[in-house]
Amino acid sequence: MGQPIQTDTSLDVVIETERLLLRRMTPSDADAIFAVIGDPVAMQYYPQPFTRDDAAEWIERNLLRYNEHGYGLFGVVLKSGGEVIGDCGLVQQLVEGEPHLEVGYHLQRRHWGNGYATEAARRCMEYAFTQLGTDKVVSLIRPENLPSRRVAERNGMQVERQVTFADLPHLLYAMTRENYG
Ligand SMILES: CC(C)(COP(=O)(O)OP(=O)(O)OC[C@H]1O[C@@H](n2cnc3c(N)ncnc32)[C@H](O)[C@@H]1OP(=O)(O)O)[C@@H](O)C(=O)NCCC(=O)NCCS
Repeated sequence: MGQPIQTDTSLDVVIETERLLLRRMTPSDADAIFAVIGDPVAMQYYPQPFTRDDAAEWIERNLLRYNEHGYGLFGVVLKSGGEVIGDCGLVQQLVEGEPHLEVGYHLQRRHWGNGYATEAARRCMEYAFTQLGTDKVVSLIRPENLPSRRVAERNGMQVERQVTFADLPHLLYAMTRENYG
């Protein structure tokens, strides 16, 4: 799975947790993102793994989101060591015609099993409620993606309904401002 990919932690940190910094991605994060979205195991619930060019486009899309909304998927950096281990953040999604704010997360496989996605996603939800003033945050998760469902459930999200998203069945997990705590 390659060498750890270091990052400059002084760049545009938006969210800090106990163990993580979430900062705006830059084009130089493409290798770190490709280490997640180019991994066939990590992408087993996606139609297919992505290419290195897709990883560069993934970052470009998030740079556009930062410009348009002020947020997007952020690079997740380990405070201890400065390695960028994936992404987590907030993305506007249209789900069966309804606008939603989604918290999403994608981590390199060798960093699974440490609670990092749960920790990052929880703080992103808090950011959405306190900084963006949103009333609800969702996660769109394939029913088979049990690790991702456990992240949502550990953070108190509940399944609202099944939806079709990107032409595939997804569970719409949701957390409301009233229930967040
Ligand atoms: C979804 C994904 C981020 C989940 O990764 P993960 O490592 O299982 O999630 P976390 O980082 O929150 O770690 C939680 C696991 O670490 C364990 N853990 C260890 N220390 C922990 C701690 N301090 N806090 C919380 N959990 C901890 C938990 O028990 C849990 O394991 P379990 O689910 O087997 O019970 C990962 O599978 C992934 O990147 N998949 C590919 C992309 C993807 O599918 N994204 C979601 C799209 S909807």
